[in-house]
Amino acid sequence: AHRNTIYLPATAAPIYLLALVCFRTSRLGEAGTEHGSSPRHTDLNLDEPMNNITTTLGQTAELHCRVSGNPPPTVRWLKNDAPVVQEPRRISFRATNYGSRLRIRNLDTTDTGYFQCVATNGKKTVSTTGVLFVKFGTS
Ligand SMILES: *[C@@H]1O[C@H](CO)[C@@H](O)[C@H](O)[C@H]1NC(C)=O
Repeated sequence: AHRNTIYLPATAAPIYLLALVCFRTSRLGEAGTEHGSSPRHTDLNLDEPMNNITTTLGQTAELHCRVSGNPPPTVRWLKNDAPVVQEPRRISFRATNYGSRLRIRNLDTTDTGYFQCVATNGKKTVSTTGVLFVKFGTS
C-alpha cells in the first residue's frame, strides 16, 4: 500500500523549509531593489543609425548620434576604433538634445573613415557607425 510513498528522513523537512525561506527572501530582495533604491526605470535606446556622408575636400561634415535614455547616456566618438581627437576650429563634438554631434570642418581626404559613437549609461551600451568619405573636388 505504501510502495509509492517517499519517506523523508527526520532532518529533511527543516532543510526544505529553510530552502523555501531563502527563496522567498531573495525574491523579496529583487522586488525591494526595483521599487526602492532606484525609483525610476533605467533605459538606453539607439533612436536612429548614424548617417553616412560622401562629400568633397574643404567641405563640412556633421555626423549625428541619436540616442536617448534615463539617465542620459554618456557618448564617446571613435574613428577607425580610436578615440576622435578634437582639433580647435576643425574637429569638435558636443552633446545635443538628441544625443551627440560630431562636426568636421575643412575636410581632408584623410578624414575618411568609420565613425562610431558609443553611448553608455553605466549598465548598458549601444553604438552605431557611419561612414565618412571625403573625395577630391571633382564630383
Ligand atoms: C551606411 O553605410 C553602411 C555601409 O555601407 C550601411 O550598412 C548603412 O546602412 C548605411 N547607413 C545609413 C543610415 O544609410
